[in-house]
Amino acid sequence: MMKVDLPGDFIYGAATAAYQVEGAWNEEGRGESIWDSFAHKKGTIRDGSTGDVACDHYHRYSEDVAIMKTLNLDAYRFSISWPRVLPEGKGRINHRGLDFYKKLLDSLLEHDITPYVTLFHWDLPFSLQDTFGGFYSRQCSDYFADYAAMVAKELGDRVGNWITLNEPQDYASNGHFLGEHAPGHKRVWEYLKVMHHLLLGHGKAVQSIKAVRPESRVGITLNLMPVHPRTESEKDKNAADLADQFMNRITLDPLFRGSYPEKLFHTLRWFKPKVKEQDWEYITTGIDFLGVNNYTREFAYHAWYIPLLHTWMTGADIAETEYEENGRQYTSMGWEVFPRGMYDVLMRLKNEYGNPPVLVTENGAAFDDAPPVNGRVPDEKRVQFINGYLHMIARALQDGADVRGYFVWSLLDNFEWSVGFTKRFGIVYVNYETLERTIKDSGLWYMDFIKSQKNRQDEGGEG
Ligand code: FCB
Repeated sequence: MMKVDLPGDFIYGAATAAYQVEGAWNEEGRGESIWDSFAHKKGTIRDGSTGDVACDHYHRYSEDVAIMKTLNLDAYRFSISWPRVLPEGKGRINHRGLDFYKKLLDSLLEHDITPYVTLFHWDLPFSLQDTFGGFYSRQCSDYFADYAAMVAKELGDRVGNWITLNEPQDYASNGHFLGEHAPGHKRVWEYLKVMHHLLLGHGKAVQSIKAVRPESRVGITLNLMPVHPRTESEKDKNAADLADQFMNRITLDPLFRGSYPEKLFHTLRWFKPKVKEQDWEYITTGIDFLGVNNYTREFAYHAWYIPLLHTWMTGADIAETEYEENGRQYTSMGWEVFPRGMYDVLMRLKNEYGNPPVLVTENGAAFDDAPPVNGRVPDEKRVQFINGYLHMIARALQDGADVRGYFVWSLLDNFEWSVGFTKRFGIVYVNYETLERTIKDSGLWYMDFIKSQKNRQDEGGEG
């Protein structure tokens, strides 16, 4: 196992998202989200499952916080379900929904675990989608900023760290272009508009949160990954460049440079959003940290049959099981295990985007774990995975990247969107029939790892 040394004030956490763990989908006044209606439709989720119950975190949060404490976590990243607190997305507040988050937060604070709260992890209130097309419409950015301000006002005495959006690029591409996530649209013309309105909503929310709670630290979480050409041909190199703009630069450039990537905008020029001068003031509003989710890399190739973009990526389909091929290891999502990609992403942020303070807000792996035997779930591959990526984070830190913390995805096995419960990302195993939790070996390893990092610091061993 590679030795990893991280700084004394480095933050160790685990992450989840509301729809993937909470359940209680129609309890205590919660409104419907687009993920409820999407998952309830036949044929949308690989195993026919839904997030109706999920991990039942809504009722079992105390047990889950106790597990976090056992694991020595400094921090917990979770998301707020927008329709749980604003059933129609705007206007009427559901106080019983807010109470749940207050109880969860109190329990975290009692256990000395710092909350990092995501405001939008994809579960848009259905009524906003239904009445005016959700983020396809510019109006949605204002509703988002209002929602953010309301939550900051109500919960800001307990929360210091906010993440506006989780992976806006994924939301726009999977939900509006590929149709594999809610709201399930296969409409290439929606992609850039949804992107723009999400980023605009982010900027407005940063400002609206700070207006209510000036002391808050606010960031955004992006999915970033290296995109390599499949071959050295000019066509594949061009495809990789365009794919990089589509996946990475579509969010990085506007946030940090105040512009959109040109080639992509030229390629999709018929579907460009209306960008007002003032929008840039919002979008480039300073953030206190950048959340980075990284799992793998992609290989792009020229694909004549993809409308307009003519580029595609090898990892676009989710696998059935984990496998190895040509000496490379793939998780059960079919995502290549490529720790070096984490380093490359972090160094790119340092070298090309002004070295922002970074929190790795998600990293982890789905493997085909067997159910517990005598209370143990041996998941050595996940241990190797996490250790390998942490090693690359330590290397990036040595080379000047400004990384402040790491959140493993995920605390619990949970509802993995379009592939339902077929994939297990947790460092804690969840039995979906009894809802019993069992800490996997990776969880026990992480627990010891955190402790040993802290002990090293106490002994003055920090380099
Ligand atoms: C990310 C999502 C997260 C989870 C992981 C595996 O894209 O943010 O909710 O599904 O992938």
